[in-house]
This record gives sequence, C-alpha cells and structure tokens, in this order.
Amino acid sequence: MKEKIRFSSKLGLIAATVGSAVGLGNIWRFPAEVQENGGAAFLLIYLACVCILGIPVMLAEFSVGRAARADAIHTFQKLTPGKPWWLIGVLGVLASFIILGFYLVVSGWTLEYLFASVSGSLFTPDEPSGSVNFGAKMQEYVQTDVRPIVFTLLMIAINAIVLWRGVKKGIEKLSNVLMPLLFLLLVIFCCVSLSLPDASKGLKYFFSPDFSKINGSVIISALGQAFFSLSLGLGVLITYASYFPGSTRLGRTAATVSLLDLMVAILMGIIIFPVVTSFGISDSESLRGGTLVFVTIPEVFTHMECTRLWSSLFFLLISVAALTSTISLGQVSVAFLQDSLHWSRRKAIVCVFLPLVPVSLACSLSQGSWNSFRILGYNLFDFLDCFATNYLLPIGALLLCVYVGWILPKNTLRDQLTNHGSICAVWAPAVSMAIKYIAPPLIFIILISNAL
Ligand code: PHE
Repeated sequence: MKEKIRFSSKLGLIAATVGSAVGLGNIWRFPAEVQENGGAAFLLIYLACVCILGIPVMLAEFSVGRAARADAIHTFQKLTPGKPWWLIGVLGVLASFIILGFYLVVSGWTLEYLFASVSGSLFTPDEPSGSVNFGAKMQEYVQTDVRPIVFTLLMIAINAIVLWRGVKKGIEKLSNVLMPLLFLLLVIFCCVSLSLPDASKGLKYFFSPDFSKINGSVIISALGQAFFSLSLGLGVLITYASYFPGSTRLGRTAATVSLLDLMVAILMGIIIFPVVTSFGISDSESLRGGTLVFVTIPEVFTHMECTRLWSSLFFLLISVAALTSTISLGQVSVAFLQDSLHWSRRKAIVCVFLPLVPVSLACSLSQGSWNSFRILGYNLFDFLDCFATNYLLPIGALLLCVYVGWILPKNTLRDQLTNHGSICAVWAPAVSMAIKYIAPPLIFIILISNAL
C-alpha cells in the first residue's frame, strides 16, 4: 500500500491547521459579537467555550484522523468496519462542500477589494462633492452579477492550483508563507490602530466586561462562534490530522491552534475598537460582517494618509485568511475522492472544482439578480450558509463526539492523546470526559436553539 503523505514539519502542520481556523469568522464575526454581547464578558465566555468544548472536539477529530490515516469518510470505515458510522464522514464532506460553495464567493469579494485598493478604483469619488459612497461601492462590487463572478472564478482557480500541488508542496508550503505574513499584517494594523487618538477608550471597552448582557442566547452564540472559528465538525481536522506524523503531540497542537486562533480574534478586537471610538462608530450594524469590512473600514482609511496602501494591506490580510480556510475545505472532498475512491489527485480536483463552479456562481448571483429567488425566505447564499453552519456542522460534531466517546474502543483516544503511551498526558481523562458527557448535550442545545 502507498505510504500516506505527512506534513514535513511541526511548523508546517501548525501553519496549515491555523490557516484553516483563522478566517472570516475571526475577522468579521468576532468584533461584532464582542460589541453586542458585553465586551470582555463575551471574550471570557468565548474562552470558556473554546476550553470546554472547542479543544476536546478538536482532539476527537485529530485522534480519529490520525488513528485511521484516511479521509473523513474512510476514517470511520477503517475504525469501525461494517457499521454505518461512516455517514458522519458523508455529512462532513457534504457540509464542507456546501460551505466552500459560498465561502469562495466571499473570498472572491475580498480579492476584488484587494484589486480595487491596489488600482485605486475603490477610492475614486462617485459623489458630486468628491467623496466616496462605500455603501454604493459595495452594491457595485458585491451585489451585481458579473464582477463578483470573475473574482469568485479567480479564487476557485487559485484553490485548485494550490490543491493540485498537493499537501506538502501546496497546502503546507503556502501556509508556511501566508500565516507569518498574516500575523505580521495584524501586528502592523494593531500599531496603526493603537496610535489613533481615542485608542485607549476603545481598548477599555473591549477589555472591560459587562456581565449584564450575558444570557443563554449569548452563550449559545459564543459556542457557535467557537465551532465555526476552529473549523470543527466538518471533517477538515480529521483530514488534516491524517497527515500528522506519529510523533505529533495532539494536545499541544490543539492548544496551540486554539490559542493562535483566539489571538487573531483578540488582535482583530484591538484593531477594531480603537477605530470605533476614534471615528465615533456607534451602531453595531457598522461592525457586522460585510459592512464592517467593505464599508466601515475603507471609510476609515480615507481619513488616513496612504489610503491605498493601508487598504491594500488590509484586503491582503483578509484574502490570505480566506484563502487558507477555503483550501482546507476543498481538501476534505479531494482527500475523499483520492483515498476512498482511489482517484488520482488531478482527477479528484477536477471533479470537486467543476461542480463547485455552478454552485458558487449561483451563490454569487443570489446576491445580485437572483436575489428574489427564495428558499424558505432566504436567498441561495444565505440558505446554504444557514443550513450548513446551523445544522450540518453541529450535527456532525455531535455525532462525532458520540462516536469517539461511546462507540470507539476507549484505548483509541488514549493511544492518540499519549502517542501510544510514550508521552504523559494527565489531562487525557478530562478530555475524554468532556467528549463523552459535556460536548454532546451542549451541542444538542446549540442545535435546538438554532432550530427554534
Ligand atoms: N474557521 C474558518 C473561519 O473562521 C471557517 C471554516 C469553517 C473553515 C470550517 C474551514 C472549516 O472563518
């Protein structure tokens, strides 16, 4: 049998896994959640969610992935042959494909804004007064038909090229370059933000907790954010862990990935909140998702010197974060076709990306002229987002915890957490308890509350 590919260095595997985790979830969802839900109080709840739920579920995925050394579906067939548990993998492959469908569209927008920043067209005035209406620009860039499609296709092509080069030469090499670049850009933006006149007020808001805002739905929102941000429940981490060398310490890796992911979210807070106070942005709508990134931030850049440079660097930062996440999502399906169906990598890539083109284009058009086509009241983009992130993702994670906690022989998890007894992991029983007793009911609550 062919020897299974491994990441070639510790740094490479961390960079690739952090690359998957750090994405638009950290950049455009986290600051808004913090602002709406009591500043540092939300941060603390989020931290607790990462420790109690995020890290154990991540370790469950790492353990099965490395134990089986296979793709998300074949992993379950190998560990429990003849049982229907592989359906958990099917759910993961399906969900990651759907998420990739719309995530590529958003990634395409970030690329479009990067080009428009570099060329300067983002800042060409469109009002008689000479000012720029970024809301109108966003409509032109995002809510039309042709422009976003071009950039979505470009993003699809970049993804296909990276995956074509394979795990080591494509995913690992690219992450080794892009992740340090991402952290460097974040630090540069933190310095810029901290030099703003009202920076201290913003930081004070970010770091002082308002516990009166905390209620059940805030906790559920923090749990959901932790899941999405850590790329859990979709088979991404099972797939990546199948490339971890046998000597990788899973506990340390999970802690490092979660910490770095959290760090990016906190750095984003340190960037955004001084901007909020210094430029008097008071409504949370301005901090939400697309509006934050495509309207509020470019507006802020126009009040600074070297507008185009800052804007280009900012959209480079977001494009990098988005790209490494889309690549990890794509690898789930590619690995499935390669491992389970024994297809060549090239054939697998063609068969994943060809159907992705119409799916992504339909998602893109649903922001433009197809917006009136509704499924249960949502346009296609929002429907797929809601269906995959609110249902498929938690269902996958719930089943995985039940599987690892209750079905898999006990020693599989223990062997993986202790590298077959060669390292001491005093925390391993606590992780096992969390997977067995804490994660399933909590994820179930998320699911129910999403359904209501
Ligand atoms: N974690 C990514 C983010 O924060 C999104 C993602 C989810 C990527 C699931 C891969 C798998 O944006």
